[in-house]
Amino acid sequence: GLVNSRDLFAKAVSGGYAIPAYNFNNLEQLQAIVMACVETASPVILQVSKGARSYANQTLLRHLAAGAVEYAAELGCEIPIVLHLDHGDSFELCKDCIETGFSSVMIDGSHLSYEDNVALTRKVVEYAHQHDVTVEGELGVLAGIEDDVHAATHTYTEPDQVEDFVGKTGVDSLAIAIGTSHGAFKFKPGEEHSIRLDILAEIEKRIPGFPIVLHGASSVPQELVQMINAHGGKLKDAIGIGEDQLREAARSAVCKINIDSDGRLAMTAAIRKVLDEKPEEFDPRKYLGPARDALKQLYMHKIVNVLGSNGKA
Ligand code: G3H
Ligand code: 13P
Ligand code: NA
Ligand code: ZN
Repeated sequence: GLVNSRDLFAKAVSGGYAIPAYNFNNLEQLQAIVMACVETASPVILQVSKGARSYANQTLLRHLAAGAVEYAAELGCEIPIVLHLDHGDSFELCKDCIETGFSSVMIDGSHLSYEDNVALTRKVVEYAHQHDVTVEGELGVLAGIEDDVHAATHTYTEPDQVEDFVGKTGVDSLAIAIGTSHGAFKFKPGEEHSIRLDILAEIEKRIPGFPIVLHGASSVPQELVQMINAHGGKLKDAIGIGEDQLREAARSAVCKINIDSDGRLAMTAAIRKVLDEKPEEFDPRKYLGPARDALKQLYMHKIVNVLGSNGKA
């Protein structure tokens, strides 16, 4: 069955790697994730956002995720699979996911006051732990789009707060803001494209060995942006996080790295290419199939070359 994140994070922290947290909204994305993780023998966190729940129906999504365990075994490797709620925004949403079979939830109180974030997160932890479900909290605000909330600037996580937050809430992992952001437009051209690994190091000193999570960690591969634009797309100045910086983060206590946008780019590039080059095609399998293959390659690349979770299943 599905597992929670506790043991996976403990192993990842001590082993100096990070587990991929890939978002999915449909069958092809899920297939690509499972195929990539089986082929690299990597554990995986399947993430469902609030938007994914309403797009694909949460009942269908969780049955797909539960089926992924059996699917992985059929493909030849019984990898640990976590089903995680991404950016839960209320106790009720988290409770609903916990009751219907998610093995992990995020309660994102990062937009609240510190005290309200602590109280809400604590409430979710108390409920989740009764059901052996792990909880991710967040401190600090990522710039850009975070579900429905748009923040103009980063509010980096304050290292002085992390020990108190983790102690008071009892969370199993902590998402931090160190300059990553959601989406495909993370930096302005000409701006310094680096994240604050110095703040990460400072946070690690306050809570040594505690599992840290990075959101907004897509790299926005330029070859995918160019491929999209070469086939009729219009993505201007799409910029992500350098893979060298993510590699460094993965060696630290960062044990979960969230990637969604890169997958969207890979799928879109592949679909645009097929529809552009073969205008006679109208069978969705003829463009979703290549999109799934491209996604699988991308996910394998992340696991082997960035996160280091290959062989850790
Ligand atoms: O945090 C954002 C994730 O990329 C999910 O995005 O809310 O559009 O499904 P979404
Ligand atoms: P990206 O938009 O950088 O892929 O981040 C995804 C994410 O953080 C999901 O929670
Ligand atoms: Na790590
Ligand atoms: Zn996120």
